[in-house]
Formats: sequence, C-alpha cells, structure tokens
Amino acid sequence: MSLLRLKHEDSRRIVVLVLLVCGISALGSLISLNLALTIFLVLALSGIFLLIAHYQRASEEDRIQQSQDIQDLQFIQSTLDLRRPLPYFTRWSSSPALAAQLIGVIKVYQPRCVLELGSGVSTVVVAMALRDQGSGQITSVDHDPVYAEKTRKELAAQDLLSWSTVHDAPLVQTQTPRGTVPYYDMAMLDELGPIDLLIVDAPPRHSCEDARLPAFELLKERLAPGALVVLDDTVREDESASVAAWLSAARDNASRIVPCRKGVTIVRMP
Ligand SMILES: C[S@@+](CC[C@H](N)C(=O)[O-])C[C@H]1O[C@@H](n2cnc3c(N)ncnc32)[C@H](O)[C@@H]1O
Repeated sequence: MSLLRLKHEDSRRIVVLVLLVCGISALGSLISLNLALTIFLVLALSGIFLLIAHYQRASEEDRIQQSQDIQDLQFIQSTLDLRRPLPYFTRWSSSPALAAQLIGVIKVYQPRCVLELGSGVSTVVVAMALRDQGSGQITSVDHDPVYAEKTRKELAAQDLLSWSTVHDAPLVQTQTPRGTVPYYDMAMLDELGPIDLLIVDAPPRHSCEDARLPAFELLKERLAPGALVVLDDTVREDESASVAAWLSAARDNASRIVPCRKGVTIVRMP
C-alpha cells in the first residue's frame, strides 16, 4: 500500500511539516490558547488533506506503471524464445521497460559487440536476444563479485554462456577529465573491439558524485560509428550530468527518452 511505502524524502517532509505546525501553534499560544488551537487544527487538517492528495496521485501513478509493466512483459514474452523463466525484476534490477527497449534495439540494429555496465536480469535478456538473432556477444562488468557470480550462474542455467561474459570489475581510483574517481578497472576491456551497444546501468549512485558520467568520459572513444547507448534511471537528479553529456554528443534528432518510471534514454552516436 502506497501509504506505508514512505521514501526517505517523504518522511523528512512529514517531520518538517509537523515541526512547522507545532512551531506556529506554539507562537500562537503566546497570544491565546484558543488561537493556538485554531492554528493547530487548520494547519494539521491542511497537512492531512495534502498528504491524502499526494498519496492518491502516487497510487494513480502506480496503476499506470503496472499497466506499462504488463505491456512490456507481454512484449518480452512474445519476442524472446524463453526456455526457462527469467529472473525476477526487482527494485535493483533493470525494469521491464529497459528490458523491452533493449530487445527492440537489438532487433532493429543487430549489434555485434554489446558492453553493459552493471550485470543482472538485463544481461540475461540481452544474451537471449543475441542468441535468438544468431549473432553478437554481451560483455557485462560488475563491481560486486556476489552479483557478478549470480548473473554468471543464471546465464549458465539459461545455457547462454556462449553469448555472454561477466567480468568482476572492482571500482578502482581512475583518472577522468574531472579528476580521480572510483570506476571500473577498464584494463580488462582492452581486448574488446568497437562497441555497437553500450548499456549504462551502474555503478550505483553511492559510489561517488555523477557515478555514471565516467562511462561518457572513458568509453565514448571506444564506440563504433553509429553506436547506441542505452542509459537507465535517467529520471534521477544525479544522472542529469551523464544524460546531458551523452545527449550533447549524440547524432542530431536521434535520441529518445522513454517515459517510464525510472527513465530510459536511448542515444545514437554520430
Ligand atoms: C542497477 S543495478 C544493475 C542491474 C542490472 N542491469 C539488472 O538488470 O539487473 C547496479 C548494480 O547494483 C548491484 N546490485 C544488483 N542487485 C542488488 C541488490 N539486490 N542489492 C544491492 N546491490 C545490487 C550490482 O552490483 C549491479 O551492478
């Protein structure tokens, strides 16, 4: 139920609201107790009204999101040759929207070399789409050995190891044009040819400020002409620098923002 799924910012807003109501009522009590009570009731009722309106809107957005998820899942199911169930989509994984967009991009552009930053369900979906079209390889890197291994096991269970490789790639201090930041050790990608499709779904935002911007700074030169770049989580404030950088380098009028919950942005390079 939406009401119980308070985000950190929601809880902060509620605390600020309660403190404000109490503070203003306390000020009113300096004049008269009745005035304080009236102020308290008016502010508290307005606050409750605003909260109800907020959660009604959130629940309407949830409903729309669920119907989009169903459409995307139907597309995934009808497009891929599924021989076992896919791993579950979770809060940490790619969304059905991202998976559906990746399948669409692979069908249309038939990339041969796919590099993914952040392994998981998306690695399995992409490997399956490449297998179904009969060409291509996905290389995925993950800073967390636990999730890298989990993805490798799932790829093995799905018999997709000949279409995919997952590398353990700890975040190491890396030189970028903005200074040194923790990023994947790129040495392991030296053997990789020009990248036709780059999927940017990591590192997690807590690793540093603008955590995904180094993909642009360090990998742009390794893209094949006309390469596609698929960025996840692009509705997030902390992704804005990365999205702006990719959009500014993209081919004119060849980028697409998919209006889904987490935001997916697809960029076509010149
Ligand atoms: C956004 S996730 C990448 C998701 C991936 N593309 C997928 O489709 O599942 C970014 C990183 O979070 C880490 N991760 C994945 N699941 C996690 C979980 N349940 N808890 C904490 N970290 C997780 C992994 O190391 C992954 O590289």
